[in-house]
Amino acid sequence: MTTIENGPGTRELAGKRALVTGGSRGIGAAVVRQLLDAGAEVVAAARSATGTVPEGAAFVEADVRTRAGAQTLAAAAQEMLGGVDILVHNAGGARPHEGSSAISDEEWQDALDLNYLASVRLDALLVPGMRERRSGMIVHVSSAVVLTPVAPFLHYTAAKAALENYSRGLALELAPFGIRVNTVSPGRTATPGGEATREQWAEVAARMDATPSRNAVVPLGRDGRPDDIAHAVRFLVSGRASWLTGRNLILDGGEFPMG
Ligand SMILES: NC(=O)c1ccc[n+]([C@@H]2O[C@H](COP(=O)([O-])OP(=O)(O)OC[C@H]3O[C@@H](n4cnc5c(N)ncnc54)[C@H](OP(=O)(O)O)[C@@H]3O)[C@@H](O)[C@H]2O)c1
Repeated sequence: MTTIENGPGTRELAGKRALVTGGSRGIGAAVVRQLLDAGAEVVAAARSATGTVPEGAAFVEADVRTRAGAQTLAAAAQEMLGGVDILVHNAGGARPHEGSSAISDEEWQDALDLNYLASVRLDALLVPGMRERRSGMIVHVSSAVVLTPVAPFLHYTAAKAALENYSRGLALELAPFGIRVNTVSPGRTATPGGEATREQWAEVAARMDATPSRNAVVPLGRDGRPDDIAHAVRFLVSGRASWLTGRNLILDGGEFPMG
């Protein structure tokens, strides 16, 4: 008889404690649902609680862009879960601008804080516990757009590129401690944030001389669904991915074959 361990539909993450930033909607909420379905205990974090926080998850209000927000989250996770085995850095995004010179210092800093430094700060607070336990799984959420950086989003793509590089380095540093670190890079995915950003992008593109907007051709014929990304995260934090670290999984329906 064949026994399938850790297969989909099993409670492969039973006993694991997970923290998901940006877990109130979109990709983050789908990740929260997948981890709950796999048996993990989950804390979702965002700046405000909404009706879309998945049932069964605990919720913490925090702004990940600040050191204080990271400290709030780490303390809450310790108090509610007693530690974190699975950390998914999903909160992210940025507003488009009319070219690189139109991106202010404040916007650059904000993009770096949200899309890069938030992960660095929270990892620094939660990795010591993982090192002590000699186990842990970290997933950083980047973007497939890093592969074709466009003018309105240079602050965003540069911050995500930094995140990818940091994620690879962290994976090498933590591998001897049994901690795996990977990145997922979604292509265009149907979420509230994704749709709003693409609308803003079209408006900005219409005001620019050059047309920076991409007409995405997705070989698989549709935009991504939050679960397309969440299934990959569920796999990466499971025992099925126990020999996988330092990788960036590009989930884009085939849009960026060079990735
Ligand atoms: N959707 C796409 O097409 C796409 C493509 C490539 C990459 N991505 C990446 O995938 C991730 C999720 O994107 P999404 O489209 O699901 O976004 P979304 O629909 O805008 O959801 C973002 C989530 O993050 C939270 N959040 C935003 N800013 C935060 C902050 N400063 N502190 C704490 N929480 C914060 C939001 O809640 P609050 O607003 O209440 O804080 C919400 O829960 C992001 O990293 C994004 O860059 C998305």
